[in-house]
Amino acid sequence: MKRVAILISGGGSNMVRLVEAMQAEGFAEPVLVASNDAQAGGLLKAAAMGVPTAAIDHRPFGRDRAAFEAELLKPILASKPDILCLAGFMRVLTPEFVEHFAGRMLNIHPSLLPKYPGLHTHQRAIEAGDTEAGCTVHEVTPVLDDGPILGQTRVPVIAGDTAETLAARVLVQEHKLYPAVLKRYVAGDRSLLEL
Ligand code: GAR
Repeated sequence: MKRVAILISGGGSNMVRLVEAMQAEGFAEPVLVASNDAQAGGLLKAAAMGVPTAAIDHRPFGRDRAAFEAELLKPILASKPDILCLAGFMRVLTPEFVEHFAGRMLNIHPSLLPKYPGLHTHQRAIEAGDTEAGCTVHEVTPVLDDGPILGQTRVPVIAGDTAETLAARVLVQEHKLYPAVLKRYVAGDRSLLEL
């Protein structure tokens, strides 16, 4: 069975959905949840679901991303993952780290990529007057929020939306899209899924 490690930075609601789907449907085994923040709420949730956790604080490393990643790699490699899922992991990874997991690392991003890579996606969609927003699951390449798109879900932008209300509407769809894409990816299916 394919082994899946997940990187988070915060509450980890997408991570929870991935673990729940793997445990309920048995299509892969969640072997590690790691975070750059020991206070990330998702770590306790992962432990409660019986998944090993690790925390490597990025702050002592300052701007030395390679040194941070060298520490982060240790628990990841020890868990022997086949696939690495970024789920609200908010550190930019070096090309060297990405190359290590080339063709086996996924990310979920809260916009309809290629629109709005980076941060503040919902605010940018509202300010642009977009009538729809959404989320994307893609393979990770060295270019931020780039890489082959594997799944996308669209949601309407509603009059009066704030970044918060739109983010909440998109997040509901993220929770459905990411497990569905991972399940197909594990089975070798890289075709686009539009939910
Ligand atoms: C999600 O909306 C995810 O798409 C976004 O962070 C949130 C994490 O929520 N990721 C990014 O912005 C990556 N650049 P979660 O911790 O509850 O899954």
